[in-house]
Amino acid sequence: MEHSGVGRSFYVAGAFGKANKKISSPLRYFCFFSMTSQEIRTKFLEFFKHRGHAVVPSSSLIPDDPSVLLTTAGMQQFKKYYTGEADALKDFGSKNTVSIQKSFRTSDIDEVGDESHLTFFEMLGNFSFGGSTKKDAITYAYEFITKILSIPISYVTVFEGSHGVAKDEESKKIWNDLGVTDVREEGINDVFWGPTGTSGPCGPTTEIYCRSGEGQDIEIWNLVFNEFFYPGSREELLEQTQGKELQKLSQSGLDTGMGFERLVMLVQRTPTIYETDLFASLMALLPDSLDMRTRRILSDHSRAVCFLISDGVVPSNKERGYILRRLMRRIITHEYLAEGAVNMRLFFEAVLKNYSEWYPELNGSLIAAEWNKEKEKFLRSLSKGLKELGKLQSVSASAAFKLYESYGLPYEIIKELGGEKTETLQRREFEEEFKKHQDISRAGLEKKFGGHGLLVDTGELKAANQEELGIVTRLHTATHILHYALRAVLGESVHQAGSDITVERTRFDFTFERKLIKDEIRQIEDIANDIVKKDVPVSYKELSKEDAEKTGALFFFKEKYPDRVKVYYIGNSLEDAVSKEFCGGPHVTHTGEIGTLKIIKEEACSAGVRRIRATLF
Ligand code: ALA
Repeated sequence: MEHSGVGRSFYVAGAFGKANKKISSPLRYFCFFSMTSQEIRTKFLEFFKHRGHAVVPSSSLIPDDPSVLLTTAGMQQFKKYYTGEADALKDFGSKNTVSIQKSFRTSDIDEVGDESHLTFFEMLGNFSFGGSTKKDAITYAYEFITKILSIPISYVTVFEGSHGVAKDEESKKIWNDLGVTDVREEGINDVFWGPTGTSGPCGPTTEIYCRSGEGQDIEIWNLVFNEFFYPGSREELLEQTQGKELQKLSQSGLDTGMGFERLVMLVQRTPTIYETDLFASLMALLPDSLDMRTRRILSDHSRAVCFLISDGVVPSNKERGYILRRLMRRIITHEYLAEGAVNMRLFFEAVLKNYSEWYPELNGSLIAAEWNKEKEKFLRSLSKGLKELGKLQSVSASAAFKLYESYGLPYEIIKELGGEKTETLQRREFEEEFKKHQDISRAGLEKKFGGHGLLVDTGELKAANQEELGIVTRLHTATHILHYALRAVLGESVHQAGSDITVERTRFDFTFERKLIKDEIRQIEDIANDIVKKDVPVSYKELSKEDAEKTGALFFFKEKYPDRVKVYYIGNSLEDAVSKEFCGGPHVTHTGEIGTLKIIKEEACSAGVRRIRATLF
């Protein structure tokens, strides 16, 4: 399991993160904007609404799609409409949609602090699933940029053709007909958008470049023509991996993305994104004593923190929780070093004020609560950690990891405050150390076999050898059956209160008020062994936590589960299964493999909780 999302973003924009040229910027920039960011948002949605697009709200930063950690693009919530698994007409009343999507890209985290890189950003996009044609899409983009926003287009790019995909002559002609004559042909690396690390819809793109107030041509809008499905990763596509061919989608789709902050910068003619009305009120809260880079980092990170927390991310040492924790700790460190000159609470209030109208999910009290908790925790070790960092002559990857492990200092802070001592420190090496550590602690956990239910988020149960693995797997399925049988005999109020599996037995704690009578024990055994005799299939389905709950599956400790969970069920289908539980597995494939279950002991465990031990033979 990865501890961070770095390098895991699902799609790589052809050029979305590319146009970050150096722009010299005056420290303060005041201007009365001809169009506010709020107006631009409204104009964008209205423009497409008038052209038959259904306005769809932003989806959460926590995606439905288990292959990505965070939402990185507007198209993500629409993936199933491209492939035909879902019907947009039915769900939205139109084959065309438009949205302003909350997005987050960890790949840019080290760059934040320059003129244009961000972690959290908004993406304006219009989408089509067998609706708008290529000509419509290009014409809409042209009209919106040149007529509604009154920005001239410098040039556009189209796909030059390769990997079995023809040159995009059609787009070129459409642009020419609109009067855009500077049409540049580019290759698969720049203007073919597709999956990184996983499969998905993809296709050639056309990008629009406009001149900034500083005289630079920057990419503003990426129009992807989703004509294909690729059954592998982007890397495999580039290498033209044998056996993995681009497949033509039955209907062509459209996916466009326009980074909002950059667009606002262009419309408001500011030197960087930080002088736009999106950031100016945040930047104004910071004292001049802080350097520009730090001010930008604080502005970027505080927005990201507010949105991540409001979407339900909680700081932790894993996955998206770890991303959030790093952002929070970076802010806390700067706040600490600024010795009272920075008050992040004001920052969060400003973010809420700027964004709540568009994103009503922003939750001030939740943000404050998580912030206070994390701050309290981190401040206990921060000064010691900084002192330790100060003592080191140079910081190797393993020394950096120790600082993280002992004092909670994230990589960014070590790198930032370590100065010359961290010159040779590389993020990749630090992450390798992290991974090594995770592997060791996971192996320790698995050795105990004790995590039935609780092990669900640490991966598979493992045993010291194959033979043991076979035994604990059988006991594991038997535990699910036992749970079912207990409820069948004693009633639905019975709930799992704990569980532990060793090679010798399974131990199961459950809520019940009194001692079981002999007859009940026999009945429980009979029901369980009946399921074994019937040799019922055991399968699982992976679902979002929400959908998993809707199936009626039992779970032990809700907070422990990730957002995507496996529901293991014993039966021919999930609907008519006798047992359904949230669980990481593994299990036998048929109950007949288990053997006969025997309850060997029943006793009190704690008030209102009984404990059963059972074996198989
Ligand atoms: N999904 C495309 C991008 O992110 C539009 O650039």
